[in-house]
Amino acid sequence: NGVITIDPGYKNTGSCESAVTFLDGEKGILRYRGYAIEELAEKADFLETAYALIFGNLPTKVELEKFHSDIKSHSLVDDDVRKILEAFPKTAHPMGVLSSLTSALTAFNPSSVDINSREEMYSAIVRILAKFPVLVGWTMRKKKGLHLNYGKNSLGYVENIMYMMFKQPNEDFEVNPIIKNALDKLLILHADHEQNCSTSTVRIVGSSHAGLFASLSAGISALWGPLHGGANQAVLEMLEAIKEDGGDTKKYMAKAKDKNDPFRLMGFGHRVYKNFDPRAKIIKKAADEVLNDLGVNDPILEIAKGLEQEALSDPYFVDRKLYPNVDFYSGIIYRAMGIPTDMFTVMFALGRLPGWIAQWKEMRLRKEPIGRPRQIYTGENYREFVDLEKR
Ligand code: CMC
Repeated sequence: NGVITIDPGYKNTGSCESAVTFLDGEKGILRYRGYAIEELAEKADFLETAYALIFGNLPTKVELEKFHSDIKSHSLVDDDVRKILEAFPKTAHPMGVLSSLTSALTAFNPSSVDINSREEMYSAIVRILAKFPVLVGWTMRKKKGLHLNYGKNSLGYVENIMYMMFKQPNEDFEVNPIIKNALDKLLILHADHEQNCSTSTVRIVGSSHAGLFASLSAGISALWGPLHGGANQAVLEMLEAIKEDGGDTKKYMAKAKDKNDPFRLMGFGHRVYKNFDPRAKIIKKAADEVLNDLGVNDPILEIAKGLEQEALSDPYFVDRKLYPNVDFYSGIIYRAMGIPTDMFTVMFALGRLPGWIAQWKEMRLRKEPIGRPRQIYTGENYREFVDLEKR
């Protein structure tokens, strides 16, 4: 009818219908394809969860084996991609590197662009699920100055990720079950979150029929920001700063509440969760267990718990319904696993990959129109052009 209402940040705008993920922010419920994340985190592995998100149901044994075998048959990444990685300075942020390499993959997999059938879609999906962990492993190994290796097809999907990230040259590789279980859990809990910033980005880029890998590369860039996935890195840096400052949590609480200070308590607050973030609940418990099982005593965990307690009884946070989110405790686990702080958001991207794929696939199969929001123009009215010499 020509009437446009604006909704900055799309706080009350639905962009699509979706059958992928159910989220009730008041009750703290999150389900993928109907399956509760609490049960998935306890009983499923990451690849099963990815299958359920992408194809709608948990797989049978046969379906899972075929899926994994199809993924394994695409696990090589062209050596020229390695050369692109080598050209980045060692100081480059891993999220920028990952986004660039994901986009670069398009050049070596042109069939991932013009997707017009379910077969072409499936082929692009298994390719990226195979190659993305290689890029993640390479990005981390380059940072650590390690030889860039490929995976091992005899390993499970998550074990293989660990192999590519952690295997030292001349060292036998043994899967540490504590790290494997924790990694599965973290990846599952990050796997989808309906129409968040990066997922909406993937859908909107994909809606122009740009290729899958280009859409994912855009999603990675969106995830990088500290208000979104980048918060997990920012949380750890904040906790480190508090530790260096003698553990003065009160000072940081005051900064977070000061409207003249841009500082925010990182890992706190959520657009949709207004009572608790169910992912944070599981991750907090896992952080305790993993550090205990690995025999790691990290003073940062105590600072985090103290900060959470203070915030939960502070009227500023209570009134605004600000609770710890998924990013508040995840970094403490990544750190105990030996993952560098600036790789944390890459781990988030690795977990979110199936969700992005599932949402992109749904958007294409539903033949959604190109995303194209409107605006209310607030600029100058018509004015006459003035020649350069006369301005
Ligand atoms: N510390 C201090 N104040 C906060 C915080 C915080 N972490 N989060 C929100 N507020 C205040 C904000 O200043 C505002 O106050 P007022 O009403 O007085 O102006 C009020 O709470 C509402 O905040 P908002 O920014 O309007 O809420 P939003 O829904 O637009 O933003 C958010 C949600 C997650 C971006 C925000 O809470 C935030 O910046 N949190 C810190 C960053 C973070 O942890 N991000 C990870 C989010 S979960 C995982 C993911 O999405 O990747």
